[in-house]
Amino acid sequence: MNIINARLRGKEGLFRVELDGERIAAIAPLSSPSNPAVGDLDAGGNLVTAPFIEPHIHLDATLTAGEPNWNMTGTLFEGIERWAERKATVTHEDTKTRAKKTIDMLVDHGIQHVRTHVDVTDPSLAALKAMVEVRDETRHLINLQIVAFPQEGIESFAGGRALMEEAIAIGADVVGGIPHFENTREQGVSSVKFLMDLAERKDLLVDVHCDETDDPQSRFLEVLAEEARIRGMGARVTASHTTAMGSYDNAYCSKLFRLLKQSEINFISCPTESIHLQGRFDSYPKRRGLTRVAEIDRAGMNICFAQDSIVDPWYPLGNGNIMRILEAGLHICHMLGYEDLQRGLDLITDNSARTLNLGEGYGIEVGRPANLLILSAPNDYEMIRTQGHALASIRNGKLLMQRTPSRVERC
Ligand code: FE2
Repeated sequence: MNIINARLRGKEGLFRVELDGERIAAIAPLSSPSNPAVGDLDAGGNLVTAPFIEPHIHLDATLTAGEPNWNMTGTLFEGIERWAERKATVTHEDTKTRAKKTIDMLVDHGIQHVRTHVDVTDPSLAALKAMVEVRDETRHLINLQIVAFPQEGIESFAGGRALMEEAIAIGADVVGGIPHFENTREQGVSSVKFLMDLAERKDLLVDVHCDETDDPQSRFLEVLAEEARIRGMGARVTASHTTAMGSYDNAYCSKLFRLLKQSEINFISCPTESIHLQGRFDSYPKRRGLTRVAEIDRAGMNICFAQDSIVDPWYPLGNGNIMRILEAGLHICHMLGYEDLQRGLDLITDNSARTLNLGEGYGIEVGRPANLLILSAPNDYEMIRTQGHALASIRNGKLLMQRTPSRVERC
């Protein structure tokens, strides 16, 4: 299969991208728009990119909003109560069915790489076992990284450390944590040391729910970054959320950024989820409840956007479309300046790939996997402005999805 009349990010002109089986075989410039041969896909002058990425989602909780009760206040705390009710009825098949339905929604929007956090503060580890099966059964659609996520803590949950070890033994790919939720500062610090030891010992990636609160005293990011720095693991470590950074004062942040840069860790922001759940203790002025996305980016550090939830007790909306998250995030983070719009897709493609450590398994380059998208616009700016879509998603050289753009007829 070949794709003709493709625009590539960062390059002038049109290209023909040749696929040979499961690899990209050649990328050749075209002197003028060419006509498709039988079997060719015509990008029509639009962008061809590597697949979109969902780097932070909770597939074990998706599609449960309103079951049995809706979150009436929309707060994080009522969400936890509603989830406790739903969690009591979760079964193996229920988890798998909802996760697969959600994966289909992601695939329909051009996503082929997903990192999901799975709650392991459950002595049966039922959701984790279900998700390990889902990972195998959906390999033709996505690459799935599973994070062992201790929703109720490692140190403050009975048997928390043993459950983390067991989750890794069963097959989780990434070590998670939630230090700001532990009962004390000391427990938060020791949970980070424990999870970093575990990841180092098992040679695994790390992704910690870190300081997901408006509390400016929640300062576990410095602990995570320092542990990553001294162990030389930064590129393999991610701090998710870090929303407290939006409430840190500038003097502390200027010192913190020095450490963050040295540590080389990655960041994930979930802009729609955070603006919905944070700022709930404020009257006015009301904080946005996000981390310092633009500042992290401007400082040369790696940050990307994620959905976090789709129709669950914490967030009732969502449809799998990561472009929606990108658009909202750019607004919320004051990133609609010209330069940001020229490279906006970085936040849901290349930056996310770096976070997930996809390496040479990602990107439009000869020899890399034939995983790519045809988008509905010729550049990042137009893709964002027009609320564009992935029109085709190709995986291992085969079409996974094609979308017909909507048509308007003037009368
Ligand atoms: Fe999360």
